Amino acid sequence: MLGIHAHIGSQIFELNGFQMAADKLVEIAADWHAQFGYQPEVINVGGGFGIQYTKDDHPLAPEAFVDAIVKTIKQSASDRGLDMPAVWIEPGRSIAGPAGYSLYTVGSRKDVPGLQSYLTVDGGMGDNIRPALYQAEYEAVLANDPAAKPTETVHLAGKYCESGDILIDNAKLPATKPGDVVAILDTGAYGYSMASNYNRNPRPAVVFVENGESALVVERESYADLTRLDRPYQAK
Ligand SMILES: Cc1ncc(COP(=O)(O)O)c(C=O)c1O
Repeated sequence: MLGIHAHIGSQIFELNGFQMAADKLVEIAADWHAQFGYQPEVINVGGGFGIQYTKDDHPLAPEAFVDAIVKTIKQSASDRGLDMPAVWIEPGRSIAGPAGYSLYTVGSRKDVPGLQSYLTVDGGMGDNIRPALYQAEYEAVLANDPAAKPTETVHLAGKYCESGDILIDNAKLPATKPGDVVAILDTGAYGYSMASNYNRNPRPAVVFVENGESALVVERESYADLTRLDRPYQAK
């Protein structure tokens, strides 16, 4: 057995949990060392490093996590007479999340006087289930003018025909008109990977962009893709 692994959660903004997990893993390894002579080559503390979805999220620098984890394992291993193992981490969201944006075209608008305004877009819970599933929060900007000052608060509503299909509650945006493109930020993780064909809608394309160059890396699904596995049925 190569080593021991744990994954303690997601969107973690404190060192404490990782330090406790790292120490616990070493404690278990030391116990196995005492009982069976086992020496882990690897201790893997998983992922869960928080990212900034909204201004209320205050992520720590990756260096802070790595430093705390390595120091804890080093100290704990030395205290318990274990050789220092290799330390592995499994960052997922903290790499992919901030690298991706979701682009939506603005459609219709509904203003409920004295209450709230809804701005509809051509996507929603089919390409990003997180807000509907567990009230994940995001921020959005106008794609062709991301620095434009927000002038209104709207509910950014999806197209999937569910009252829960709200991508952002109280999105702060500048004035928009149908056809404008709105970017929801930090959707690179747990967005496309959890996308579905909800209500038989095709999933969007994925495009990589860097230094003014773009490359299509996942094609937009077609209706033909959606019915690819369907077979005609003749009642007997
Ligand atoms: C075992 C394991 N490692 C790593 C990760 C990645 O977590 P994150 O994307 O929050 O860094 C997950 C996510 O659930 C996981 O289950």
